[in-house]
Amino acid sequence: SGAARYEAESATVSAGGTIDANHAGFSGTGFANGANAVGSYVEWQVTGPASALTFGYANGTTAARPVDIAVDGTVVATGVPFPPTGAWTTWSTVARPVSLAAGAHTVRVTATTADGPANLDYLDL
Ligand code: GCU
Repeated sequence: SGAARYEAESATVSAGGTIDANHAGFSGTGFANGANAVGSYVEWQVTGPASALTFGYANGTTAARPVDIAVDGTVVATGVPFPPTGAWTTWSTVARPVSLAAGAHTVRVTATTADGPANLDYLDL
């Protein structure tokens, strides 16, 4: 990982989500604040190959913000927890192994609870 960074402010955020910059410490110019709803998603266009997906995020609540991760429309990981980071200004990472072939792909994280996703800062391949 670390070969390429895809900022969340350049990703697609589903309806009700916003690109915000009000919690310091993020990479780039902002982060994706997905809607607080089941099905709320952030989708990146990325270029493989890659062997891991590493998401920068913050979760200032006391409950995990689980998501399903889909590659090219196929779910490859379900209920991946994005645990509390202690504050919205405290940024951490969640990494998952993946087998991503060379070329263009979509990576979508979709919230599975009414809380929506954590605040998402970037996806590193
Ligand atoms: C707060 C916080 C947001 C966050 C939201 C949430 O409003 O300022 O950045 O996205 O909580 O719970 O999702």
